[in-house]
Amino acid sequence: MRALGRATKPPLPGALRPAWARLPRSGLAARLPLAAGLALAACHPLDDRKDGPADDSAPHSADTAPDDTGAPVERPELTGSPASATDLDADPARLRVALIAGTARHEVGGVSYEGYAYNGQLPGPTLELDAGATLDVDFQNTLDAASTVHWHGVEAPNAMDGVTWVSDPVDAGASFNYVVPLPLAGTYWYHPHLDTDHQVDLGLYGAIVVRDPDEPTADVDLVLVFDAWSETADAATDEHGLYTPGDLVWTVNGLVDPVYRPPAGSVVRVRALNASNTAYLDLGWPGLVQIAGDQGLLGAPLEAERVLLAPGDRAEFEWRLGPEAFDVDTLPWVPAGGASWGDPIRLLSVEPEGDTPAPEGLAWPFDGAAPAADPGRTDLVYVFAGGVEDEPWLINGESWPDVTPDVVALGEELIVEVRNLSPTEHPFHMHGNRFEVLSVDGVPPPSRDLEDTVNVPIRGVVRLRLSPANPGDWMVHCHLLGHEQGGMMTVLSVQ
Ligand code: C2O
Ligand code: CU
Repeated sequence: MRALGRATKPPLPGALRPAWARLPRSGLAARLPLAAGLALAACHPLDDRKDGPADDSAPHSADTAPDDTGAPVERPELTGSPASATDLDADPARLRVALIAGTARHEVGGVSYEGYAYNGQLPGPTLELDAGATLDVDFQNTLDAASTVHWHGVEAPNAMDGVTWVSDPVDAGASFNYVVPLPLAGTYWYHPHLDTDHQVDLGLYGAIVVRDPDEPTADVDLVLVFDAWSETADAATDEHGLYTPGDLVWTVNGLVDPVYRPPAGSVVRVRALNASNTAYLDLGWPGLVQIAGDQGLLGAPLEAERVLLAPGDRAEFEWRLGPEAFDVDTLPWVPAGGASWGDPIRLLSVEPEGDTPAPEGLAWPFDGAAPAADPGRTDLVYVFAGGVEDEPWLINGESWPDVTPDVVALGEELIVEVRNLSPTEHPFHMHGNRFEVLSVDGVPPPSRDLEDTVNVPIRGVVRLRLSPANPGDWMVHCHLLGHEQGGMMTVLSVQ
């Protein structure tokens, strides 16, 4: 049995809330005495960045920076999204690909890991198609362990969802044909759903981009897949090592701290995915504008200082690039709880080439929708708890696989309340059905926000609305994969 990881995993990060559910920093400062306000500002060096990107562009204008010994360090070049899978079929309404899970060596920041990969790529191939098309995947498992492929965020037919509650795993050496229609635009991803903590950690993950032909086309459509290394100790080799915040290494499309050089004057649609098992991203850069969440465009664009991406989460952003360079960074993962603090960790630098000024943004078809009004009733409650000492992680007092499915009616509006009783955060994820976030700790999002993964703060309450339109048995779980595997998973049966 896989241990719960209590001995090897640190406590989980602090009270991270979506940007819109946090106390605005200016508001907080205003309530503090002047000295405390100054001290606070000193702890948040990024606050300076509100003044614009010019300050921090200079040090990164070359792809070398001195290391501890003063010797220049070559930074890798990020050239674009993870390579797309080859379409084996001429039909534009069908993306037919071969997806082969196998062993692979990953070189991450000078450390070599014995890992896994899809098609030998880290991340796996990007699967790109138009809304309305069908994904047709010949999956071959060349690992010496059983696996499955789960289409995270996709309203897949139940038998194609890649979970062992519903269908048999794909044994070592066996194949399976996944056929998944993709009617809805968005940024999704795929990963195994068996021994998930271990298999995802070793490198089995990739992005799915479903385009809406009615949305404007950016000059560059850029998928950024983030993964944290050295975050778990139970990988195939000990090389992953014990995690401490200080040695957490983030990769962006498999690269550590790369430099990206798109043309100045271009508009980039950034599709960010946090594929890590456990580590949160608290993303920031100057002039951040979020345009979409897990499940397509927000009701309105959101300007924020930081955007939280819990493990499993996606968000889309617009970059209007002038000649100014800037860094994308995250605030460090804080084991002790509380909001992120400390020096930011640079994830990548963007150094536009040329001196064309920043263009106008694109006319994204935001519908301006406000979040739905909370009707106040609750149809279904999930209580997240457990994980104390060697106890299993629990949802409603039960631990996977000894769970009682909740049965709900197909198409009937469901108001769900997720309560987190534990002193750690949990990203709540539901398979097969998108939901709307009504509120996090009583604060509604600024505009309609459709998600499949949402972080539940420590002792927090998240309220959701959905009208389950996809029949079947759907996993509901925490997307901290050690928690999922430690029992924090249950089933929603839509009939
Ligand atoms: Cu990424 Cu059960 O999911
Ligand atoms: Cu959890």
